[in-house]
Amino acid sequence: MVNNGKFIVLEGVDGSGITTQTSLLKKWFTANKNIYGKAYFTKEPTDGPVGSVIRQALAKRLKPLDERVMALLFAADRLDHLYCPNEAEQQGGLSHLLAQGVNVVSDRYYLSSYAYQSLRVDLDWLQQINKHALKPDLTIFLQIPVNASVQRRNDSRFHEELYEKTETLINIRNNYLAIAKKLQAEGENIIIIDGTRDIETVFSDIKKAVMELF
Ligand code: TYD
Repeated sequence: MVNNGKFIVLEGVDGSGITTQTSLLKKWFTANKNIYGKAYFTKEPTDGPVGSVIRQALAKRLKPLDERVMALLFAADRLDHLYCPNEAEQQGGLSHLLAQGVNVVSDRYYLSSYAYQSLRVDLDWLQQINKHALKPDLTIFLQIPVNASVQRRNDSRFHEELYEKTETLINIRNNYLAIAKKLQAEGENIIIIDGTRDIETVFSDIKKAVMELF
């Protein structure tokens, strides 16, 4: 019998360093393949059919969509990601890969929906529409103060996407913390990491949490 792969998620407000840390984790998994097995790296919103609509909405290329509609799109994209085949290596989506023993690392997952969409949509309903989404084995939340997020974003962006206003980011950050704590209390494995430190220090905390899964 094959053991299931580990499902690991990285989360944080825009500019918190999740993309940088995910790429370090990818190098680390590649270097340690003999110990921890294969790892598949992915992100949400995806490049799939629903994800493409979401990206257009984020870039404000569509008419403004109601946040409930955005919430449903994110949830639909997630289920497509989990259960529907796309590329050759994902015959049945992420759930299939995990069942084959492949580790999966996702840049964002349902905690993003809870933190971002609960600005305008009721959290209970968000949890309901995401109830068919597998629980991660580990969610790593990179916490940074909002001024750091705004600074990093200004350094790297040409335009402002849907959820990138400073005031919005403050609320999203507060939501992340409160909801991460609520999910921890419900038994989810979520660690909160101080993302303001240098890249290597943050990564060493992430690596430690990942190694504890095996
Ligand atoms: P992001 O990771 O910032 O994409 P990129 O930097 O590659 O363009 O994600 C896009 C935005 O979507 C980000 O602001 C967070 C938001 N988002 C939600 O609001 N809900 C969700 O469920 C997810 C997955 C993302």
